[in-house]
Amino acid sequence: MVYRVGLLGLGTVGTGVVQMLQQPQHPLLQAVEIAAVGVRSLDKPRQVRIPPERLTTNLEQIVSDPEIDAVIELMGGLEPARSLILKAIDHGKPVITANKAVIARHGEEIFQAAAQAGVAVLLEAAVGGGIPIVQALQHSLRASRIQAVWGIVNGTTNFILSQMAQQGSSFAEALAQAQARGYAEADPSADVEGWDAADKIAILAGLAFGVAVPREAIPCEGIRNISSTDIRYAREWGYTFKLLAIAQRAAAQGSETVLDVRVHPTLLPVTHPLANVHGVDNAVWVQGDPLGQVVLAGPGAGQGPTASAVVGDLLTLRAHLQTGAYLPNPLWGFFGRAAALLPLAELESEFYVRVLAQDQPGVMGAIGTCFGRHRVSLESITQKECHQEQAEIVILTHTVREADCRQALAEIQQLPQVAAIPSLFRVLR
Ligand SMILES: NC(=O)c1ccc[n+]([C@@H]2O[C@H](COP(=O)([O-])OP(=O)(O)OC[C@H]3O[C@@H](n4cnc5c(N)ncnc54)[C@H](OP(=O)(O)O)[C@@H]3O)[C@@H](O)[C@H]2O)c1
Repeated sequence: MVYRVGLLGLGTVGTGVVQMLQQPQHPLLQAVEIAAVGVRSLDKPRQVRIPPERLTTNLEQIVSDPEIDAVIELMGGLEPARSLILKAIDHGKPVITANKAVIARHGEEIFQAAAQAGVAVLLEAAVGGGIPIVQALQHSLRASRIQAVWGIVNGTTNFILSQMAQQGSSFAEALAQAQARGYAEADPSADVEGWDAADKIAILAGLAFGVAVPREAIPCEGIRNISSTDIRYAREWGYTFKLLAIAQRAAAQGSETVLDVRVHPTLLPVTHPLANVHGVDNAVWVQGDPLGQVVLAGPGAGQGPTASAVVGDLLTLRAHLQTGAYLPNPLWGFFGRAAALLPLAELESEFYVRVLAQDQPGVMGAIGTCFGRHRVSLESITQKECHQEQAEIVILTHTVREADCRQALAEIQQLPQVAAIPSLFRVLR
């Protein structure tokens, strides 16, 4: 029997999906027909042939058409994507989406509606592009008690950091290279400020821990402040910089699970599995009991990998229809229970700090005293290069409370010998 799908969007990913469906690799995809494609402009040249009568700007019509069996949303953005997804669900249609922004912010509403309507919403392409992390977290890995999910989930920033580490480029040079290769947009804020990674970790945390993680509550720092000097010093100590999206169990407060969820540049030991993920690739490291550690890595974006994840979801839908099996939503436990998040001030971490101070006797002692007053114990404090009587002092702390470290730094900033504290980064092992 023919299975009729409606596509919302025919851009980078939509075009890749049409190409894959025009040359189906699996018997179950052979009966799939692209019944309608919704776009913004009918006049735009397209890289794939769609019969003109199937191309439309009336997307409302697609999601409510009784002849359409499933909707694939590949338009991006919050609205009208959210309303169209909800309307498709309301009309009893399963939905496949690659839209991390809408799921991270409206996942609860969408999955609640899907639960009521008894339809599936699949989103493999929304996190990690071609890496099958969503289905893995939903099924195979969930038998274990997941303790931590750390991800390099933004290819643009991983490319920039790789260029800085491998070519010695500055942040501005590496960003310009990313833009020239089409990895970064003209306004790169969503990538370099960590917002895109925060959308993705909100979804992964929801999957891994079965709770709703409010996107706006996730602390998020980008990579603009990383200098080539920091990258060089970190390397001397055996560390590399990665923009990590982190979700892990922090502590149990009574029956409530407190999660530590955050996005920020992180110094990782060069021996960590995520330290060797370079360029635009993504990777997700999952640790659980009795699972142990698992790493999934591969292309985190791009037309082919993302389309492959979308069509994989379509195959899942078809396979379940074929067997008549009930298809649970990936985030079935996503709504209803909001996670308590650990405040950043309460975080316990090691820190890397770079201080610019006058090259005078006693400076290191004064800095050390400030740290000591705030219970911040130091693993090492080293004077590095000296320029025009200004010394660069680099400090690695032991595991300390973030609030204590920041209070000590506020005091250090007031020392007459201290000119600036250009760098403060968290270290993970
Ligand atoms: N590109 C990637 O590598 C990648 C990777 C993972 C996930 N994703 C996600 O996949 C989704 C699609 O990304 P993309 O890169 O394919 O986007 P894109 O190239 O910008 O394409 C968007 C498509 O949606 C249509 N569209 C957008 N707003 C519309 C509206 N209001 N009404 C009607 N049509 C509208 C556009 O129509 P016109 O063609 O007429 O302008 C276009 O065909 C996004 O959620 C994105 O985050 C993308």
